[in-house]
Amino acid sequence: MYVILLGPPGVGKGTQGVLLAEAFGWERVVTGDLLRQARADETEIGREAQRYMDAGELVPDQVVVELVAEKLRPLPADCSVLFDGYPRNAAQASALAEILEELGRAIDQVVVLTADDQVLVERIAGRRSCVSCGAVFNVFVNPSESGELCDRCNSPLHHRPDDQEDTVRHRLDVYREQTQPLIAFYEQSSVDVHAVDGSLGVDQVQDAVRSALGVGSAAR
Ligand code: AP5
Repeated sequence: MYVILLGPPGVGKGTQGVLLAEAFGWERVVTGDLLRQARADETEIGREAQRYMDAGELVPDQVVVELVAEKLRPLPADCSVLFDGYPRNAAQASALAEILEELGRAIDQVVVLTADDQVLVERIAGRRSCVSCGAVFNVFVNPSESGELCDRCNSPLHHRPDDQEDTVRHRLDVYREQTQPLIAFYEQSSVDVHAVDGSLGVDQVQDAVRSALGVGSAAR
């Protein structure tokens, strides 16, 4: 199964994606993480991406499309893949369809997570991310047990540089202008599109996503 998790910044794509991947062994293709890793590795791509990410702008399509293709090509044909943060505009959606066609695959389902802007801004204000393994916490609803350190790998937690309120509001505008139109794009194609209320609790959202995808619930 090839699934896209679509939704604005802070709605919980990463949180829900990790739970699905852990429960069902799906591969995750997370362009934000791929770009942050490129930055941490100080590659040319990482250096180019940095100024766009810090400003809350989309990184140029050709950079992101190539990262995704590199991640997809070696995957076994029978594995399920969850896309988080990709595609983000019409050009990326077309590029994804082309890469998948080349591999003899296609997107099956799209899950659109929704929440009000106020919820998104508050969630992002409380987000703390692990600098090493990328685990995500929230000081208000899901704090790390050890405070400033990651519960999984004991590395320091940080507030992402693009999580300042002004940048978040710009990222929301970019989402509405460039990414939200993809919902209609997929609705008009042969892909199943499911809307899920992302403002509920993490477990409730997970149950709704699994129900939408028809993958049932798993003991948690
Ligand atoms: P990216 O990292 O993809 O950021 P995003 O899409 O803006 O999404 P976020 O990571 O902010 O939020 P999320 O929906 O994953 O929420 P999370 O689960 O963390 O992209 C960053 C930048 O990279 C972009 O701005 C762009 O520059 C670049 N980029 C990336 N992909 C690109 C592409 N394809 N093309 C071009 N550029 C690209 O949750 C948020 C917080 O809320 C956490 O603290 C979490 O604990 C909490 N939370 C989650 N769910 C719940 C819940 N149900 N209840 C309460 N709290 C919750």
